[in-house]
Amino acid sequence: MGNFTNVLLEVNEGIAQVTINRPDKLNALNIQTIEEIKLAFEEINDNPEVHGVIVTGSGEKAFVAGADISEIADLNSMTARKFAENGQEVFMAIENCHKPVIALVNGFALGGGCELAMACHMRVATGNAKFGQPEVNLGLIPGYGGTQRLTQLIGKAKSFELSMTGDMIDANAALSLGLINYVEEDIDSAKARCNKILNKIATKAPLAVGLVIDCVNAVFNEQENGYQTEANGFAACTKTSDFVEGTKAFLEKRKPEFKGE
Ligand code: COA
Repeated sequence: MGNFTNVLLEVNEGIAQVTINRPDKLNALNIQTIEEIKLAFEEINDNPEVHGVIVTGSGEKAFVAGADISEIADLNSMTARKFAENGQEVFMAIENCHKPVIALVNGFALGGGCELAMACHMRVATGNAKFGQPEVNLGLIPGYGGTQRLTQLIGKAKSFELSMTGDMIDANAALSLGLINYVEEDIDSAKARCNKILNKIATKAPLAVGLVIDCVNAVFNEQENGYQTEANGFAACTKTSDFVEGTKAFLEKRKPEFKGE
């Protein structure tokens, strides 16, 4: 799968790994990388073999140290708006992916890196992970959804503090704020944690999992009544053969065999 320059896309036993691969630039997101992330997720959506996704960064030092500042430096108000909207669209595609997506964060997740991790459904970090929105140090604000998702995840007070001070926090602080799901000692144990979560979800009804993603995302969409989305999704589930199988298996005291239909 995938033949990209700045992104590696591999699939192993149903789990796709999207690796941002510019380690000499701490995996900074230039425009090409953003485009490649978009294409990688299109391939993932189209590949029925893939049941879950891990997003990570190459090398020991960084998940992603932000949008590429060498490109940002040349932006004007016209191009900056387009730049932000384009990145937001790609990150929304990750958030709305119907397969579970986990960010495996090792090292720096700053600016666009923190925003990329937050666009994923869950985050597993290693002990050396560092999170922050340091855009104010550059005379900027987050542009890839950071003001919105950080506030959704950790609440207004801490979101204000992090985005106004530009401070970095470590993995344990991120865990206690609810920014991440787990801290593990090293990359191997973090990867094992991601695989464990994704493999567990893979035993559930895939269409129901996709609808859970839609409903939780609806909480944060002002155009949408999330309760209505939930009721519609609940009704839609009853039209699937997985619903028939799931309820029947329970009553027959056996494990269900879901087909994603
Ligand atoms: N954009 C472009 N290049 C970046 C980058 C970014 N966001 N972050 C790091 N790099 C590059 C550096 O310019 C350097 O490149 P060079 O070797 O060609 O000079 C390389 O990655 C290594 O970074 P360096 O700063 O030397 O590493 P460090 O360990 O001293 O510091 C950081 C690490 C993360 C603290 C520091 O790189 C940093 O502050 N990066 C910017 C973070 C940021 O503001 N992100 C938000 C952007 S909107």
